[in-house]
Amino acid sequence: MGKGALALLITGGTENWAPQRWRERFLRCCPDRIVALIPDDAIDPAMVRYAAVWKPKPGALGAFPNLGVIFNLGAGVDAVMADATLPDVPLVRVAVDDLTRRMTEYVVMHVLMQHRRQRYYEQSQRDRVWTPKLQWAAGALRVGIMGLGVLGRDAAEVLARIGFNVAGWSGTPKSVPGITCFAGEAELPAFLARTDVLVCLLPLTPATRGILDTKTFAGLAHDGVLGGPVVINAGRGGLQVEDDILAALDDGTLLAVTLDVFATEPLPASSPFWSHPKVTLSPHNAADTDPDAISLYVADQIAAFERGETLANVVDRKVGY
Ligand code: NAP
Ligand code: GLV
Repeated sequence: MGKGALALLITGGTENWAPQRWRERFLRCCPDRIVALIPDDAIDPAMVRYAAVWKPKPGALGAFPNLGVIFNLGAGVDAVMADATLPDVPLVRVAVDDLTRRMTEYVVMHVLMQHRRQRYYEQSQRDRVWTPKLQWAAGALRVGIMGLGVLGRDAAEVLARIGFNVAGWSGTPKSVPGITCFAGEAELPAFLARTDVLVCLLPLTPATRGILDTKTFAGLAHDGVLGGPVVINAGRGGLQVEDDILAALDDGTLLAVTLDVFATEPLPASSPFWSHPKVTLSPHNAADTDPDAISLYVADQIAAFERGETLANVVDRKVGY
């Protein structure tokens, strides 16, 4: 019998997620394996041993009776986990340097935009006014990262290297040199109370849904150099209560937000976020999954699995990440 076939089930509707791009990359790095883009390519479902997916249609993976491993083509598995019919086989998520570095770029850029008051200087340029403001040192800004996993830890370390006063919050206790670590519900208030810029890099699970709400915003530090707390969410839209964000921006509980993710994506044209003066937004591309890096990652994992080795970055289905 030949090698098990790899089925690609990819939706997303953006340039990066064009299914043909992904098929081309997988064909290149799996030359001795059948790679079938579903539903375009005809294949006997019984031949499919692996599936590489991004937002597959609920129930679609149930079509493959011999499925052995599901590879999610991103770091967050919430869309896949929402499928109640998901086959009970290992679910592997992405954890690769390429994606991590992209997220760190995004986080550092948006923290620096606040720290160096980039919006103010853009407006000054438009107004042709020369009014430099007093600039504090990076160490005066307290950045707090929610989620000290693969992405959160790297962003925290780079921010600390720049000189920011960085803390992180995770489910289980961590020890990261140069980072003040908090863990669990009990330590959340203390973490928030020392945070001027809150960066959310949590996964979306039943335990984290809606965590960015009025109570969390009220718990942030309100005595920092920026004049109010800032929230940056690049995790998932379901982590934020969007009405609470708008209310907190309008009543001054929050100074500003940067949002890469939203409850409804694409963000509807009618959303108030588009034109809110205190909102910076991006179209869920803080850290795009790159087909070159990720097809190689999946191909390597399949090869290791077939050698009898342990799969890396397998999702714990009980906790949802
Ligand atoms: P990860 O390595 O699994 O890390 C998740 C972190 O969140 C861990 O530190 C975990 O704590 C913590 N956590 C989970 N549930 C928690 C809870 N209830 N309370 C406190 N901490 C909790 O994930 P990752 O690779 O860093 O990715 C994080 C998320 O980023 C993904 O799930 C995805 O939603 C998002 N993402 C977004 C983009 C984008 O372009 N916007 C791109 C990639 C990823 P423990 O360490 O104790 O387990
Ligand atoms: C992107 O959002 C990812 O989860 O990788």
